[in-house]
Amino acid sequence: MSAADLSELGKKLDALESGLDTAQLDLNALEAFRVQSLGRKGEVTELLKSLKELSLEDRRAVGPRVQALKTKFEDSIARRRAELETAADAASLQNIDLDLSLPASAPPRGRLHPLTQTLQEISRILSLMGFSWAEGPLVETERHNFEALNIPEHHAARDLQDTFYLQDIPLLLRTHTSPVQIRTMESQQPPLRVICPGRVFRHEAVDATHSAVFHQIEGLAVDKGISFADLKGTLETFLKKVFGPRTKTRFLPSYYPFTEPSADVYASCIFCSGSGCPICKQSGWIEIMGAGMVHPNVFKAVGYDPELWSGFAFGMGVERIAILRLGVPDMRLFFSNDLRFLKQFDENLV
Ligand code: DAH
Repeated sequence: MSAADLSELGKKLDALESGLDTAQLDLNALEAFRVQSLGRKGEVTELLKSLKELSLEDRRAVGPRVQALKTKFEDSIARRRAELETAADAASLQNIDLDLSLPASAPPRGRLHPLTQTLQEISRILSLMGFSWAEGPLVETERHNFEALNIPEHHAARDLQDTFYLQDIPLLLRTHTSPVQIRTMESQQPPLRVICPGRVFRHEAVDATHSAVFHQIEGLAVDKGISFADLKGTLETFLKKVFGPRTKTRFLPSYYPFTEPSADVYASCIFCSGSGCPICKQSGWIEIMGAGMVHPNVFKAVGYDPELWSGFAFGMGVERIAILRLGVPDMRLFFSNDLRFLKQFDENLV
């Protein structure tokens, strides 16, 4: 290569290099510039290819400069592209009405359903009194839901609990939490003290005080020498904790097949303190639960010796207690999934 040729090439490189600055265009122009210089037939590419035709000496002289130019082009184009893209992002943010300096809005916090809050509070009180938590299936056998609880087939007591039976298989949706008594005694030896909270089902017409799905908490204590006095003492203490220290308790004789004797347990009305109001229908008392001494047939059904062991049981509706404590006028509100209703119940207030 002659000196003149070399200086010609040097000029060309200078010209190309200065062209780099004129590439300060938009993204499209930048891409066109890239194709024109670094593309398959681009100017810098062609230059690189032409190096092959030079003598070794000439190649050594100009090769590194051409290579360096290529790298410089690549770097500048990449840098310029990044600048343009960042500017484009910023411009698109300018166009939307957004103030990034404002504090973020907090995501809505969930809270426990008022029935769950009530159920947990009742369970908490009973667990402090020495009862531990037991659970059973929602789909039950007739034996656990009825027979072992001393409610034989065709017994009139079955009519008290209108039941959902499963088609073709001899199972049903449990009508009460009492079957968990049976399951607990089948799997544990006395002494024992358990509560069984959970969902139960009845074939009921739905109204302000009835639902086909509701919740109960069952209690069971079995030991040597347990008497009705233990039942009374336990439930009096419990009701004072739930409804306040001035709450009075009343036991009226009742009938449940799985307890003998049985009682319905009332608390003095929390709204009128016993003087009589529309909520307690002027009686001064509100029925809270059923209870009694475990029937010997129930012990026999689970293989406990009724001569050796005695016990008490009780069962209450969670909705009923929630209605009383939270002042809810209609049970259907609990199941309507209406956030305006549910949001009123702050966990800390229950
Ligand atoms: N299982 C009864 C019901 O659903 C409630 C009940 C009554 C449970 C007396 C008991 C009890 O454990 O002793 O109507």
